[in-house]
Amino acid sequence: MMLETCARKQHEWRSNMITIRDILDVKGKSVHTTTASAKIDDAVVEMCRVKAGALLVLDDDDVAKGVLSERDLLIRVLLAHRDPATTTVGDVMTPRVFYIDEARTITDAMATMTAEHCRHLPVLSDGKVAGLVSIGDLVRAISSEEEHELRALREYVEGRYPG
Ligand SMILES: NC(=O)c1ccc[n+]([C@@H]2O[C@H](COP(=O)([O-])OP(=O)(O)OC[C@H]3O[C@@H](n4cnc5c(N)ncnc54)[C@H](O)[C@@H]3O)[C@@H](O)[C@H]2O)c1
Repeated sequence: MMLETCARKQHEWRSNMITIRDILDVKGKSVHTTTASAKIDDAVVEMCRVKAGALLVLDDDDVAKGVLSERDLLIRVLLAHRDPATTTVGDVMTPRVFYIDEARTITDAMATMTAEHCRHLPVLSDGKVAGLVSIGDLVRAISSEEEHELRALREYVEGRYPG
C-alpha cells in the first residue's frame, strides 16, 4: 500500500513537471488540418496518410472551427449510414475546440481532456496555434520519463552511474 502511494505520488509529480512545450519539443509543432467543405472520403485519406486520429478544421482565415475525430466518423458517419463521398467535414465534425497553452502541464491537459471529453488539444503559444497533443502523447511522455528514471537508477545500483 505504501509502495502504491509512493508510485502514485511520483506519477503525479512527473505529470506536474512536464509541460506541453516539452512534449512539442520532441513531437514537433505541425498540425494536420482540413476544412468544413472537404468531403469525408478525402479527410479519411488524409488522416490515414499522416497517421492522425483527428484533424483540426480551419476556415479560410485559418481560424479553427472544430475538430474531426475518429469518434465523429464512427458515430456520425458509420453508425448514421452517411455517404462519406457526399458528406462534408462540417456536417459531422465536433463544432468546438478546446485548447491548451504550451506553458501548462500534463496534469492540466489531462484535466481538460477529461472535463471536455476530447482526446486531442491544439496547443497555443502567444495565443496562436503552435502544435497539437493527443492523449497518447501525454501517456507516452510520462512513461518515457519513468523509463529514463528506471534506467538511471539501475545504472546507479550497478555502479555505472557517471556521477
Ligand atoms: N504505431 C505508431 O507509430 C503510433 C503512433 C502514435 C499512436 N499510436 C497508437 O494510436 C493510438 C492513439 O494514439 P493517440 O492518442 O496519440 O492519438 P492519435 O492516433 O490521434 O495520434 C497519433 C499521433 O499523431 C498526432 N496527431 C494526431 N492528430 C494530429 C493533428 N491533427 N495534428 C498534428 N498531430 C496530430 C498525435 O499528437 C500523436 O502524436 C494509441 O493506441 C497509440 O499507441 C501508434
